[in-house]
Amino acid sequence: MKKTIGLFAAGALVLALSACGGAAPAGTGGGAKSLDQLVVGFAQVGAESGWRTANTKDIQAAFADAKIKLQFSDAQQKQENQIKAIRSYIQQKVDYIAFSPVVQTGWDAVLNEAKAANIPVVLTDRAVDSKDTSLYKTFLGSDFVLEGKKAGEWLLADAKGASAPVNVIQLEGTTGSAPAIDRATGFADAIKADTNIKVVASQTGDFTRAGGKQVAEALLKSHPEATVIYAHNDDMGLGAIEAIEAAGKVPGKDIKIITVDAVHDGMQALADGKINFIVECSPLLGKQLIEIITKLNAGETVPARIVTEEGTFTQEQAKAALPNRKY
Ligand code: AHR
Repeated sequence: MKKTIGLFAAGALVLALSACGGAAPAGTGGGAKSLDQLVVGFAQVGAESGWRTANTKDIQAAFADAKIKLQFSDAQQKQENQIKAIRSYIQQKVDYIAFSPVVQTGWDAVLNEAKAANIPVVLTDRAVDSKDTSLYKTFLGSDFVLEGKKAGEWLLADAKGASAPVNVIQLEGTTGSAPAIDRATGFADAIKADTNIKVVASQTGDFTRAGGKQVAEALLKSHPEATVIYAHNDDMGLGAIEAIEAAGKVPGKDIKIITVDAVHDGMQALADGKINFIVECSPLLGKQLIEIITKLNAGETVPARIVTEEGTFTQEQAKAALPNRKY
């Protein structure tokens, strides 16, 4: 269902080439060290979701396989913790820094410090909004706008010809994060083709199951006219299922649910008919991150943007895919 775009594949998904990756590496790696001599600092967002847990496991396994030393930190969804972790990596003079930014803004100062220390930075999963793209070597991750668009397009098709208005509650991801911003944008762009579909309420559940449950409970009460929940990740959708059932309604029927991620628990709920559609977002970025570091370490150029190709799942497709699902 999902194929990953190879790092070395040329092509249309690579939005800009080599703006950031020069022939000579900026960092202390410099091709002078073998891989087992490298130290990489990775500042993770947190452990907020099934997706994040799978992402952390995959990254740690990829570093172990490549025999590259990994310094790992968990920011518990707080930008200040991530900035502290990056500063500590700079002090430790690691060879490379990789991180998945909790939010999009506010990174220029610390990224400039890494640049001044000659430590190359790789963004994984989430983007920053820095204008100066020389502050990082590449951004490896999903196209979140496209994910939102796919969610909206499914609803467009599902709601086609509906006589009653289609009122949607949106459970947003972490406020200010790239996936929350982009998944809302892509969804809104898609559904504007049908004026019968409206987002009647939109609030953050912070990408957590507990957050999704709490917000869904409140919004289902204040918006009894809602018939659809669009959650920016599976965990919030799973929380919404609990809220819907507690309200005496049937998830997947009385209230349709669309989510993003396709982690195991989400796929199970989809196969069980409690979620109606999932847009895939792959957490398996470890191998590609190792490929990037290997290339940079050899003094080679890497594309400035590496996009992960993603699929979608209906209930029937989830039943077929579940037995072989890796996460
Ligand atoms: O940045 C990726 C998003 O972060 C995933 O969709 C979500 O589950 C996670 O918390």
